[in-house]
Amino acid sequence: MPKRKFIIDTDTASDDAVAILMAHRYPEIEVLAVTIVSGNMRVQDGSRNARYTIELCGAQTPVYVGCERPLLCEPVHAYWYHGSDGMGGMNYPAPKLCEANGNALDALIELIRANENDVTLVTLGPLTNIAAALIRAPEIAKMVTRCVVMGGAANVVGNVTPAAEYNIWCDPEAARIVVRSGMNLEMVGWEVGRGDAALTEREIEKVYALNTPYAKFAMDCNVHALQLAKNWQGDPGMTLHDPTAMAIALDPTLSKRNGIYRVDVETRGELTRGMTVVDERNTVGTQAFFTDEWQVRGKNVLVHHELDAARWKELLYACLA
Ligand code: RIB
Ligand code: CA
Repeated sequence: MPKRKFIIDTDTASDDAVAILMAHRYPEIEVLAVTIVSGNMRVQDGSRNARYTIELCGAQTPVYVGCERPLLCEPVHAYWYHGSDGMGGMNYPAPKLCEANGNALDALIELIRANENDVTLVTLGPLTNIAAALIRAPEIAKMVTRCVVMGGAANVVGNVTPAAEYNIWCDPEAARIVVRSGMNLEMVGWEVGRGDAALTEREIEKVYALNTPYAKFAMDCNVHALQLAKNWQGDPGMTLHDPTAMAIALDPTLSKRNGIYRVDVETRGELTRGMTVVDERNTVGTQAFFTDEWQVRGKNVLVHHELDAARWKELLYACLA
């Protein structure tokens, strides 16, 4: 059975790093490239963190740097959440793996064209690179088998504002371009990684007890964020938002509750900028008072509401063993 091909677009903070590691340790897939976008981290930090993670996995996956800022708004990074290096302050040594020649937009377009209908795109940061690639080559929207987006909040509270999740809020114009592109989109909001999907203290100890460099790395670089997940977010343990999205990309059967709806992104709301507006009741299809723009667009996103927490954790442990 040929391996499934993945491209990962990431702003490589500590939870992105675990998702990148999962993809490289999962036997049934091949990672064609990792593309870096400004978001939680500035691109130079995101690149370093991604290359360190890839090197830890003994891989040579090419890392291409992309957009250094959102399409319109000013960058807002999250060093306060992920530590000064984005890896929980672990200050790992500089990786030997160098950045690949060329930029992320060319790499995304060329790799998608070369693997038409045979590549899964997993996005773990703001959608700036994806939107910019779609502006340059709109035809690639229909060439991607699945685009699994870690981002948004499906009619639930956001993390960076009451209405919005960070990856979408950081560049809502880019997110709107992507959701309207016709790409085969799957949304894994931040709510999917909360609650019983978070790692408890006992489960964190269980990971450390795997006693592998992968397990130690995955926990060490996320312990800084753990305190904020508990004290700032009010979660019961270590929330790993990007790894839960990666888990669903690796094994879609982990998704326990999902639906296909019309989804769009608010870009102007004074209070709701960056909100993923998910039409779960299909009101747009049945009511005349929505604008034609809404009416004309069909259901465009498979939204994952919940994953099987026990099976998600078993997959994580297997990738870290
Ligand atoms: O809102 C969650 C997103 O921002 C994830 O991509 C994670 O990296 C966090 O920092
Ligand atoms: Ca991320």
